[in-house]
Amino acid sequence: MGPSGGRAATITGLGIELPDRVVSNDELSKSLDTSDEWIGQRTGIRTRRIADPGVCASDLGIVAARRALEAASLAPSSVDLLITASISPDQIFPATASRVAYEIGAVNAGACDLSAGCTGFVYALALATGMVSSGIHQHVVVVGAEVISSVLDWEDRSTAVLFGDGAGAAVVSPANGGGRILGFDLGNDGVGGDMLSLPAGGSRMPASEETLRARAHYLKMSGSQVYRFATRVVVDSARRVLEKCGRNIDEVRLFVPHQANLRIIDAATRRLGIGDDRVYTNLQRYGNTSCASIPLCLHDAKAEGRLQEGDLVLLMGFGAGLTWGACLMEWGEA
Ligand code: UT7
Repeated sequence: MGPSGGRAATITGLGIELPDRVVSNDELSKSLDTSDEWIGQRTGIRTRRIADPGVCASDLGIVAARRALEAASLAPSSVDLLITASISPDQIFPATASRVAYEIGAVNAGACDLSAGCTGFVYALALATGMVSSGIHQHVVVVGAEVISSVLDWEDRSTAVLFGDGAGAAVVSPANGGGRILGFDLGNDGVGGDMLSLPAGGSRMPASEETLRARAHYLKMSGSQVYRFATRVVVDSARRVLEKCGRNIDEVRLFVPHQANLRIIDAATRRLGIGDDRVYTNLQRYGNTSCASIPLCLHDAKAEGRLQEGDLVLLMGFGAGLTWGACLMEWGEA
């Protein structure tokens, strides 16, 4: 049975895409007042992928979605809905998902974007699970796609060193016995809306010469405030989803947190009592890829043999909004 008492849903295929260009901390230190030592110690990040100029979020999302469908052995025409989560979408509208669905040939699918900061992938997975569990849809593709480098202020060392580009996609379909998504804990606290945002370009602060001069079309973050929020919600939300599903932390085989900062992950896992051997991280090589971070982790963990059928897996996202979202699943692609 699924989380809502309907049929169970599961992830039946994963796909990713990363830009070829690897940018090291030392390379960033040439143009910013920073160092490999500072970035490594404060975040754990060593390299990140940066897309070439002209590459947008859908370009990466299209490839990731195609690969996820191939992995799921599903024809694009069988997809009922495609949701793209991103903090660096192609445009305010139309939806990035519309182009992704069109380019992959998902001719029978609805398509929409979802904005929930870096928690977007977990939120989109929750909606996909609900659609499949309820029987409204059979197959939903969830895409986390980011070219965050296009919205970073490359003169601001406090944000420019943190993020990276990439995309990950998952196909969500009815479970056939192998695995199942068990439940979610989603949350939002709008009081922290200004702690992490892209201030200008929407209806609240329309584009003007003044917003350009103020560099208000770039991502802004109050790092230390978001850090405090993150270390709190990761622990609280993880405990809540486990309680909702009647499971305990000792049963979790792999914890896959949003890849924002190794210190956040270490602090949270210490409090939760999960050993390093049950925590997956790849921010060391990709940086913070926002909505792409969790599917990139799932894909890489699987490739490394760290995801086996039946494993209890805990996903944990957090980010702008401020939002957070945890998902508990028994891994299995059938
Ligand atoms: O994905 C969405 C969610 N995002 C997050 O969860 C990110 C949460 N925040 C963080 O991960 C951390 O707060 C940061 C990594 C962003 C910053 O680490 P911190 O330990 O909180 O540092 P800080 O912001 O308190 O800054 C400490 C010092 C400051 O200098 P002073 O004022 O102490 O002289 C900064 O100016 O580090 C300085 N600093 C840097 N120095 C070298 C800030 N950025 C850099 C830099 N290189 N890149």
